[in-house]
Amino acid sequence: MPVHPADFTRTMSRVPGPVTVATTVDASGKHWGFTGNSFTSLSLDPQLILICLDKGASTHAAFTSADQFLINILAHEQADVALRFAKSGIDRFQAGDMVPCELGLPGLPEASARIACSTHGILNGGDHSILVGRVEETYTGTAIPLVYSDRVFGRPGVST
Ligand SMILES: Cc1cc2nc3c(=O)[nH]c(=O)nc-3n(C[C@H](O)[C@H](O)[C@H](O)COP(=O)(O)O)c2cc1C
Repeated sequence: MPVHPADFTRTMSRVPGPVTVATTVDASGKHWGFTGNSFTSLSLDPQLILICLDKGASTHAAFTSADQFLINILAHEQADVALRFAKSGIDRFQAGDMVPCELGLPGLPEASARIACSTHGILNGGDHSILVGRVEETYTGTAIPLVYSDRVFGRPGVST
């Protein structure tokens, strides 16, 4: 390896990013969701976004076989939701704060924004799969978004 993994992740911690919770529902009606900050826009025409998901995650099979998924862009006071949807071995939906939103997918009414997608493709990204979503519906709220930077949650800084 050219760079020690710890050095790579420390360097990447200097890249501030959004905090999202991606959700989907499988054929049996079971809800799935994970916290992801590897979210970005990809294309304007067609309108595409992407988020990367660890191939070893418990949610991987559900998301890579889903026809649709929803990206909840968390508000700055929703760090607790981010931690819950990153925690293993719990029912992440038990808190009951997710309600049917765009495309009927589980969403947070108080999210800063939401983007509902149909699955455009699944790309190979090393130990992650890159979920590419075609934008179907969007919601833009008024809440200030949550950001993750230097391994801490915060809110966007002051513009220079
Ligand atoms: C701030 C934050 C950002 C994260 N971003 C990602 C991500 O982009 N992709 C990913 O696969 N996991 C990400 N994770 C980890 C997942 O949320 C989750 O913990 C992991 O998939 C293990 O979950 P599992 O119990 O479902 O296997 C992130 C966790 C945190 C706290």
